[in-house]
Amino acid sequence: MKKFAFLIAALLLCAGLPAQNTIKLPAPKKDAGMTLYQALQQRASVRQFKTDAIPEQKLSDLLWAACGINREDGRLTAPTAINSQDIRLYVCRKEGAYEYIAKDNSLVKVSGKDLRQDVAAGQGTVGEAPLFIVLVADHNRYNRPNPRTATYGAIDCGYVSQNICLACEALGLSTVPRAMMNQDVLKKELGLGEGMELLINHPVGYKK
Ligand SMILES: Cc1cc2nc3c(=O)[nH]c(=O)nc-3n(C[C@H](O)[C@H](O)[C@H](O)COP(=O)(O)O)c2cc1C
Repeated sequence: MKKFAFLIAALLLCAGLPAQNTIKLPAPKKDAGMTLYQALQQRASVRQFKTDAIPEQKLSDLLWAACGINREDGRLTAPTAINSQDIRLYVCRKEGAYEYIAKDNSLVKVSGKDLRQDVAAGQGTVGEAPLFIVLVADHNRYNRPNPRTATYGAIDCGYVSQNICLACEALGLSTVPRAMMNQDVLKKELGLGEGMELLINHPVGYKK
């Protein structure tokens, strides 16, 4: 029986079918229809969310705005020190946790667990959000780490976080940047190794 299952899996792989743990997102629309100044005027932290799911199109639009590729040479919507592109984004939702891969506009599953309560870390109602985006600075992106690497990571993370705040407003969504989270569980479940620093998370949803 085991041999049979292995054979089927091998056949599927050979047929070039997408692996089950990769979700291809719809192309980002990049036209949320709100001006930057309107989004700045509206931006405010929200901590109470409806449980309604976020459509994949909105998620794609949001992730692209956060840290997607906006130029042919692969550079991003958010600036990063020495173009290190050191900020990694993880999406935690009911069916599991995924890393956002900007170059493929896809989500790659890293855990089958619902980690939202571990991200919420017991803070009131934020755990009811349909998804969280978790921002991790990958200090390994620097060929030659120096004493400023962690500072650069925190600054780079701030740009991505603000992109998320403003894009949420433009897309009719709400969020709050949060430093609180269960670091030990998330490090383990997201598979974060040496030099990968959990910095900020964003619950994302419709305001209650
Ligand atoms: C680095 C940072 C960490 C934060 N951590 C949390 C947090 O853990 N929980 C929370 O509810 N809000 C957190 N916030 C949100 C702030 O409390 C919020 O931005 C502040 O009260 C100002 O409110 P406003 O965002 O509506 O302008 C954080 C904000 C920043 C910038």
